[in-house]
Amino acid sequence: MQFGRLLAFACTLAFALPADAQTAGPVTATSPDGSIVVAVKIVEDGRAAYTVTRKRTPIIAPSKLGFLFTDVAKIDRRLTITSQETRDFDQTWEQPWGEWRTVRNHYRELKVGLKETDGLKRDFALTFRIYDDGVGFRYEFPDQPNMHGANIAEELTEFAFAQDGTAWWKPAFQWNREEYLYNKTAISAVGPADTPVTVKLGDGTHVALHEAALVDYSGMTVANGSAGNTLHAVLTPGAGRPKVEKKGAWSTPWRTLIIANDAAGIYQSRLMLNLNEPNKLGDMSWFKPGKFVGVWWNMIKGEWSWARGPKHGATNANVKSYIDFAAANGIPQVLVEGWNVGWDGDWFGNGNDFDFAGPTADFDAAMLAAYGKKKGVRLIGHHETGGSASHYDTQLDRGFKFAADHGYMVVKTGYVTDAGQIERVDPDGTKLREWHEGQWMSNHFIRVAETAAKYKVAFDSHEPIKGTGLQRTYPNWVAREGSRGMEYNAWTGNKNPPEHEANLVFTRMLEGPMDFTPGVLSLKGSEDSDILSTEAKQLALYVVLYSPVVMAADTPENYAKHMNTFKFIRDVPTDWEETRVLNGEVGDFVTIARKVRGGKDWFIGGVGDEQARDSSFALDFLTPGVRYEAEIYRDGDDADYRTEKRHSVTIEKRVLTSADRLNLRMAPGGGFAIRLKART
Ligand code: NOJ
Ligand code: CA
Repeated sequence: MQFGRLLAFACTLAFALPADAQTAGPVTATSPDGSIVVAVKIVEDGRAAYTVTRKRTPIIAPSKLGFLFTDVAKIDRRLTITSQETRDFDQTWEQPWGEWRTVRNHYRELKVGLKETDGLKRDFALTFRIYDDGVGFRYEFPDQPNMHGANIAEELTEFAFAQDGTAWWKPAFQWNREEYLYNKTAISAVGPADTPVTVKLGDGTHVALHEAALVDYSGMTVANGSAGNTLHAVLTPGAGRPKVEKKGAWSTPWRTLIIANDAAGIYQSRLMLNLNEPNKLGDMSWFKPGKFVGVWWNMIKGEWSWARGPKHGATNANVKSYIDFAAANGIPQVLVEGWNVGWDGDWFGNGNDFDFAGPTADFDAAMLAAYGKKKGVRLIGHHETGGSASHYDTQLDRGFKFAADHGYMVVKTGYVTDAGQIERVDPDGTKLREWHEGQWMSNHFIRVAETAAKYKVAFDSHEPIKGTGLQRTYPNWVAREGSRGMEYNAWTGNKNPPEHEANLVFTRMLEGPMDFTPGVLSLKGSEDSDILSTEAKQLALYVVLYSPVVMAADTPENYAKHMNTFKFIRDVPTDWEETRVLNGEVGDFVTIARKVRGGKDWFIGGVGDEQARDSSFALDFLTPGVRYEAEIYRDGDDADYRTEKRHSVTIEKRVLTSADRLNLRMAPGGGFAIRLKART
């Protein structure tokens, strides 16, 4: 069996306060190795506050908690601690696909009961899961005489960093959703910001602030309302309603703080996955991670169209030639966009004409599925909704059945409309405009996951809600966009800068797989515009930016001109046994090594920024005594993303062992990619 296998398990329950006890605290608990300490206490005016300390250094200073409601009094003052309970948990589980085959979930849980001393006398609990590399906590409200659910106006959670620091963050609530470049500022200048927000504190400690298991709740952004180092939660609005509406007993998603000595340590955390529920879908052996090419780059560059007409891209002839190219290069899938009815008018923000089982006349779905099957290639169907999410809801079954009937294993979805402009239509006909990150959309995405799973189809959502580790629970939600991908390099004027990917690794990639669509070896966008990358760096992205479904985004004609470097794209897999971050600084550089799932070979990728940089690392993670044939694709000595020499690549073969160390120079805008084949 391939799914969510439990490999080891231990759980013990510890002490609890007597039921009628009341205290102002502090109540404390430590992580399994004792390095992280969480304390909860009652501070001035009876407010509850928590602190987080790591290796005796304060990370989060007293940070207050609470809620504003739209219809009843807020909860924040006159609280007392009524109970505390700890529990130890240690389980190792297996991912059906991922960056690590096995994941250890080892934490101590501290559950603190709180109660208002007067007024409505409402009860709730704060549950902390304390890991050696961070903390997750959530609020849990039982159904109770004075509280049956909640209409939340705002969550009053604070994150008061105990030191000054530098933060990397993207602005929230802007029209272009999550597709902004990263700001690098003092903590005091953050916000409103989408999470993850990654912070380097004064003493070098790195902290990533985010959330896990965002289901039936609105996405949390954070902002700094003071001049100091305190960020506070700002929930995504609901459409003309409370930000969150809950019935009966309810809880929040986990608010997460990954804490590590350095940037590499942040990336290596499994806390996000562990704070999600186990696989609900059962057997996932039908999903095979793999690469794809697509009838796409010519569209995004404006040479072909999604709409019908003389430039229509998704024609039988074009799709067949992409299937031929995929088959010839061992690539198992071809993405096709613009294959269906609905693209002819103004679909941006208006997707009610889309038919997800209605191919255009020049796209013969049955013939193409059969043609691909003969060649061992499946299509990836595209479902662009134009942000008309309710319309998509009405077609989910039809769309995923059509996909399954034509042998598609993956569907790419899209919600192209400005932030706050998702169209929701309630059963009574009421029309509302929702945010991509709001509570209603969090539930929409679960409906998509469940319907897709019914047909054994996986999906890759563009313009999505942020990733919060839900791929553990719904392992058919295999990838998402949710940041600036390669498409920005197709357009003129506003391309991704060389540091973008070194920012993504330590921010967006903490959310989970990203469909970045790397591998544009021509290094050209529309109007012959130059991409701000070397050719070697494009190869590195296959290792550095993780997704189980990864595109080779350039066209077959362009790959034909770069077959020496395309070889690496052919060779690199998309599913891993383990992952190690060998070095890195947010926004500057990163080197990642990954071992092939079920194999002995390793792949290494490194990317830099606009400066020339050296990456030096030991190969001590390789199996001792084994000799590895290395194929190294590195920037040529004269490579530079600013000149035609961006195509200068040196390809070398060497034999390496675990005793070796590599020192590789990355050109400005550069990188490197290495295949290490174990000799048998
Ligand atoms: C934006 C997506 O990111 C892109 O991949 C897609 O081709 C277009 N929307 C059209 O759906
Ligand atoms: Ca930089």
